[in-house]
Amino acid sequence: MDLLFLAAKTLMLAVPLYIANGCALLFGGKTPLDFNAKFVDKKPLLGKGKTFKGAIGGVLCGTIASAAIFFALPVVSEAFGTSYLILGFLLSLGAVLGDIAASFLKRRLGIERGKSAFLLDQLDFIAGGLLIGAIVYAPGIVEIALLAVLTPFFHLVGNFIAFKTKKKKVPW
Ligand code: CTP
Ligand code: MG
Repeated sequence: MDLLFLAAKTLMLAVPLYIANGCALLFGGKTPLDFNAKFVDKKPLLGKGKTFKGAIGGVLCGTIASAAIFFALPVVSEAFGTSYLILGFLLSLGAVLGDIAASFLKRRLGIERGKSAFLLDQLDFIAGGLLIGAIVYAPGIVEIALLAVLTPFFHLVGNFIAFKTKKKKVPW
């Protein structure tokens, strides 16, 4: 397959995933999804880092971003057809759900809210989004690999920008 076409398609998968994940952080609010409930292990069900505003903001922003791409780039959108409008929503929903599932798992493992879980934190939303998105579009192995490899790279770039703008003390 044409390399440029494959890159464009991967990007069309990446945008809703990243926007949904980023906007969950941006819109994160007060009321936690678990209403501060504890699981049978007496640890928080999800923790205070998963809120209604974050989840709804994430799904909405990711969906809107994908719709914008669909209408702005009709040529590229032909790769998925009109199903991209549904795919964008499913990717966004899955990204938010994947992130929530990872928090559930982290709490069960005794990892406190905000403490890092290497790879799980970076890939939870990608995996969740692609899984739910698979209802209408099953990604190829190359697309999955590209997204997995690009993610740590984007994190590094993001962290470096945060460092340069003095939002973070270290550049990683
Ligand atoms: N956030 C939110 N609602 C969500 C997802 C994220 O409000 N559904 C916000 C929270 O303010 C959260 C921040 O985005 O603190 C960063 O998200 P994330 O790194 O996923 O949460 P953590 O605080 O690190 O918590 P966890 O250990 O559960 O991942
Ligand atoms: Mg985190």
